Amino acid sequence: MTTYTGQKKNESREALQTLYRSLVGHSLPLEKQYWTLAHKQPRVGSEIAQFVASGLIKPSQFRGIDSDLEIIEENQKCWPEANHHCGDLFQCVLSAENFDPGLFFYDSTSTPVLDELYRNVAFVMSRCKVGTMVCVNVMLKNAYPPYTVHSKELFPKRLAHHLMSDWDKWGEDFQFFSYKQEGAGATRMGMYAFLLR
Ligand SMILES: C[S@@+](CC[C@H](N)C(=O)[O-])C[C@H]1O[C@@H](n2cnc3c(N)ncnc32)[C@H](O)[C@@H]1O
Repeated sequence: MTTYTGQKKNESREALQTLYRSLVGHSLPLEKQYWTLAHKQPRVGSEIAQFVASGLIKPSQFRGIDSDLEIIEENQKCWPEANHHCGDLFQCVLSAENFDPGLFFYDSTSTPVLDELYRNVAFVMSRCKVGTMVCVNVMLKNAYPPYTVHSKELFPKRLAHHLMSDWDKWGEDFQFFSYKQEGAGATRMGMYAFLLR
């Protein structure tokens, strides 16, 4: 199974925190949630561990979603004080009783040519309140041949086209950070952060 650990992943999470702090504030307001695609969240070295340690979130604000039941069961054991859901991320958003993220991190591995990516991001954005940051990870360079490379401008350009007039509320000062994902096939990821004004 792929693991989302290592120096580069940690740096990308640092960048996410820096983006949130530069645009919103030091910590998520206590009544707000942090939504993320979970994968494994061990007690040390994971996304939740990093964000709790830095004071960005409290464990109770964490909403970690994954379609893999084994992962969710393990995460529940590691972080019983946080919230873990097994299922499709977008179904969970749809069925959440109180969907109120301060920060929603769609840590996708999609390339910016998939229509589904835009539908999903636009769906999440349509349910967010003013002041929410939505952060999306997109794969700009594939791990395996033919190593297609996508420009960093493609994702915001197509998203703007998809959101139409709503782009004005989200897109004005979006932030971008790029990093290399370590592993068997090295990829280049683009992280985009949008704040609803
Ligand atoms: C990139 S990893 C998440 C890494 C994690 N955010 C971190 O920083 O450690 C993506 C995970 O989301 C799961 N996943 C992908 N798309 C999903 C979806 N639509 N709904 C639920 N889980 C999904 C995959 O099974 C995988 O475990």
